[in-house]
Amino acid sequence: MSANIAVLVSGGGTNLQALIDAQESGILHSGKITLVVSNAAGAYALERAKKANIPGVTLLKKQLGGQAAFEEALQKTLEEYHIDVIVLAGFMTILSGDFTAKWPRRILNIHPALIPSFCGEGFYGLKVHQAALDYGVKVTGATVHYVNHIPDGGEIIAQKAVEVLPGDTPEILQRRVMEQAEWILLPQATEAVCKEICQ
Ligand code: GAR
Repeated sequence: MSANIAVLVSGGGTNLQALIDAQESGILHSGKITLVVSNAAGAYALERAKKANIPGVTLLKKQLGGQAAFEEALQKTLEEYHIDVIVLAGFMTILSGDFTAKWPRRILNIHPALIPSFCGEGFYGLKVHQAALDYGVKVTGATVHYVNHIPDGGEIIAQKAVEVLPGDTPEILQRRVMEQAEWILLPQATEAVCKEICQ
């Protein structure tokens, strides 16, 4: 058996690409990416999905009439595609407790810092790296965790540390964290979760 994976995205989709590459190389083999959902129109991640022949769906909160309607449409789409595992890969919306309760230990998120540092509401994308630089930490990294009702508060699955170097800008640090941690950790953790549920 193979788990059906939905990857939720909002932007460039380099983490989605890492998952697609891991699927092609066999690192990810207990699950298959069968759906990509974007909450932003024109996200480049959708192009990546198209190139890999993965169906892409765009769901816009504003157009649907708010968070509850968005989550209802999302749930319906996930059911239509018989999804088993949801991976948040650069997905910039916080899902409600009502939604996450429907998917216990079935939603993973990648966060670009070592939780519990620089996480929670308001910490996303470059803001996370800016906060790490402002604080002056010498080590940061990435965390993959299960998603529950607390933003970035679910059980940690995997973490990897990355050095902060003199002269780092948020952009430079973001790239290093992606290369040395996110793109490795997310496919590995996704495989581990898919393997567990397929047993
Ligand atoms: C990644 O660094 C991801 O960890 C982060 O946004 C970036 C998305 O890049 N996610 C968050 O900050 C979520 N709180 P990508 O679209 O190229 O994968």
